[in-house]
Amino acid sequence: MDVTKMLEQDHRDAESLFDRIPAADGADRQSLIDELNTALRAHMELEERVLYPAIEPVTGAEEVEEANTEHALARDGLDAMLGLAPDEPGFDGALEAVKAGILHHVEEEERELFPKVRKDGGTVLEQIAMPFMQLRVELGMPMDAGALSAASSKDELVTEAKAANVEGAGSMTKSELADALVAKMSA
Ligand SMILES: [Fe+2]
Ligand SMILES: [Fe+2]
Repeated sequence: MDVTKMLEQDHRDAESLFDRIPAADGADRQSLIDELNTALRAHMELEERVLYPAIEPVTGAEEVEEANTEHALARDGLDAMLGLAPDEPGFDGALEAVKAGILHHVEEEERELFPKVRKDGGTVLEQIAMPFMQLRVELGMPMDAGALSAASSKDELVTEAKAANVEGAGSMTKSELADALVAKMSA
């Protein structure tokens, strides 16, 4: 299973929030800001707790250190942004600053870090698949069967379903396996 595909989908979701916030106002604006803040913090925590420590031997310590530093800067940016009222002058500038930092970081992950892990870290990706999914659920992040199915081969889902004691895993379709696994993880 390639969890980096799920992380890339998180990146797309965050980019869409960055695009929608400037045009929104009132309660809509506030709820998009809350959504962005929650999603980014959960995404960073997931990467820091499960992905980064596991890929360090593959990417080297420097790459992971740089990624952690960029996360810390993003948190500082979010704190500064949330210190302003959404309709206050300066809010959009603070939002733009967070966006610029995040887009830079996302580009590094998608152009350097993730491709390297896919190329040289296949075993690592397999090892972290289940802890990754479990923490994702724990952090309240989107964990749908479609995303799980898209990030995995059928054989991988069968193996994981058996490990999670899903009954009848051997005779299920790919989408049934994904549904059963998500149900197990959410239980
Ligand atoms: Fe990321
Ligand atoms: Fe990251």
